Amino acid sequence: MHTPQPSSIPDFLYGTAWKEDRTQALVELALRVGFRGIDTANQRRHYFEAGVGQGLAAAYGSGVVKRADLFLQTKFTYRRGQDHRLPYDPAASFSVQVGQSMASSLEHLGTDYVDSYVLHGPSSGYGWAEADAEVWEAMKKERDAGRTRLLGVSNVSLRHLEEMAEVHSEAPAFVQNRCYARLGWDREVRLFCSERKIVYQGFSLLTANAEMLRHPVVTGLATRANATPAQVVFAFARVIGMLPLTGTSDAEHMKQDLASSGFELSNDAVEAIESLAG
Ligand SMILES: NC(=O)c1ccc[n+]([C@@H]2O[C@H](COP(=O)([O-])OP(=O)(O)OC[C@H]3O[C@@H](n4cnc5c(N)ncnc54)[C@H](OP(=O)(O)O)[C@@H]3O)[C@@H](O)[C@H]2O)c1
Repeated sequence: MHTPQPSSIPDFLYGTAWKEDRTQALVELALRVGFRGIDTANQRRHYFEAGVGQGLAAAYGSGVVKRADLFLQTKFTYRRGQDHRLPYDPAASFSVQVGQSMASSLEHLGTDYVDSYVLHGPSSGYGWAEADAEVWEAMKKERDAGRTRLLGVSNVSLRHLEEMAEVHSEAPAFVQNRCYARLGWDREVRLFCSERKIVYQGFSLLTANAEMLRHPVVTGLATRANATPAQVVFAFARVIGMLPLTGTSDAEHMKQDLASSGFELSNDAVEAIESLAG
């Protein structure tokens, strides 16, 4: 059994959704610019995971990074979230599908382990179902076999998480959610996570919150700090305990997004942005 080295969790994840035939080049570029965390999924409908693997191979080949420097995260996606390009046999049990999807991800990514394996979304919007319990147990087996270091869940409500906690003794290491400012930046789920030391990964921080990027509180903070509104949002996300994702395809935005790590926000500024959320 392979024992993965404990690579740390980076403070930004580069998201690879919707990049199609630009995936390889953009992953390579993101690594050159300085990202060390890559988020993908074995869901060909929205992600080109094999293209991510090609980008990684190009970066290894040119000496930009080594596998051990990276945090690679991918996901298991139910049939309902896929198109015809399935990474498993849809007639197989969920446990078998998890094993097949993982094997396909490792092949796509050219590695024998990922750093995080995430359930892309529960089978029902209403609660943690039996199918989810089966998938989670299969994901734990993948982890115990050394094919992932950590496990996570995505697109979950507080109810999903509470019901999951009733059924399983082990909490996820990560929750990855679309983060809406108008929902208090997912306040309830973030609180659940912080109480259990679960790392909250926020995605679509810019695209889900276009009104925030235009709000005078945010634009005012950006102007005074000689930063962009996007950098203010990413800095805010980090201060309130999130691990943010960015899906940029632009080299300058990649640099700006990473530079937001060094951007300080006063308590007053954080409170002002939180209060905008209502
Ligand atoms: N778990 C899930 O179900 C799920 C769902 C959706 C997404 N995700 C993950 O989250 C990742 C990010 O999602 P997203 O694409 O919605 O993220 P996003 O970062 O909110 O949106 C990307 C958009 O923001 C712009 N942008 C990024 N940085 C900017 C900057 N510094 N200044 C101005 N504009 C900037 C990009 O434009 P430019 O390209 O021009 O910079 C692009 O239009 C995805 O790639 C995926 O990995 C997960």
